[in-house]
Amino acid sequence: MAAPVALIQGASRGLGLAFCKHILKNKPPAAVIATCRNPDGAAALRDLAGDHPGRLTVLQLDVNREDDIRGAAARIKESFSRLDLIVNSSAMLHPTGKGETSLRDVTAQGIISTLTTNTVGPLVMAKYFAPLLQKGGGGFGQQATEKAKQHSGIIVNITAKVGSIGDNALGGWYSYRMSKAALNMATRNLSIELGRSRPKVVCVSLHPGTVNTDLSRPYHRNVPQNKLFSTELSVNCLMSIIDTLNMEKTGKAYSWDGTELPW
Ligand SMILES: NC(=O)c1ccc[n+]([C@@H]2O[C@H](COP(=O)([O-])OP(=O)(O)OC[C@H]3O[C@@H](n4cnc5c(N)ncnc54)[C@H](OP(=O)(O)O)[C@@H]3O)[C@@H](O)[C@H]2O)c1
Repeated sequence: MAAPVALIQGASRGLGLAFCKHILKNKPPAAVIATCRNPDGAAALRDLAGDHPGRLTVLQLDVNREDDIRGAAARIKESFSRLDLIVNSSAMLHPTGKGETSLRDVTAQGIISTLTTNTVGPLVMAKYFAPLLQKGGGGFGQQATEKAKQHSGIIVNITAKVGSIGDNALGGWYSYRMSKAALNMATRNLSIELGRSRPKVVCVSLHPGTVNTDLSRPYHRNVPQNKLFSTELSVNCLMSIIDTLNMEKTGKAYSWDGTELPW
């Protein structure tokens, strides 16, 4: 059996970088493809590649640019010919770095930018990479025993609890909440289309908890210390969920502790 191949999109820092580290450390001989906007500035990824010779490939990809996504898919097809896992980790809270507190703060450009990166990007990733996932060997997740229910690959879209419509009791953060709610709809749609095909692709949204990264930094002082996860802890939890994924769990959103999130 060939070694599994994982693609982590948005890998320069934060959770994406932690996914790369986790898989390289805990899932040998899996290969990791890390994509980021500016590989020349991604020192942490370069160091990681040095620590794991031959197992980490770094590719340039801005998720807002369809040409980048198409180009990366062509290069990966040529070098690997398949994928077993994609994690879409990149996102922004808002171009200003802070979520809207009320309608007064809403701008059309703010919403458009946030949706482009957080929602459109992961969906266009699925468009170009689904054919490679359909050629995967099912190297991540837990295969069903019944052959007709087995999967060849997995798409994980990193969502956020604040994207849950059912859970929204506080309001605010229009752009970010809307982008993640729409991302969850994309996940659900993908699970239906790629669940009909053969081979099948599992598609889920995962919420990482509140994690100590640049994205959440403006709000850290409001979070109790024991509720602010390290990237390592969060990714450990998320990988434990990924390890158990199969076609029975597709099309849903799960929180870091494995509980299902309401849409
Ligand atoms: N941190 C939390 O508490 C929290 C909570 C719930 C959900 N999440 C979700 O977790 C995921 C990871 O976030 P994080 O906390 O790790 O954030 P982060 O540390 O701010 O990292 C964001 C990543 O997204 C990349 N990115 C942004 N725009 C991009 C684009 N157009 N193309 C490609 N990459 C782009 C950044 O790359 P550059 O280095 O090039 O800017 C960076 O690698 C996100 O989906 C976020 O919504 C986080």
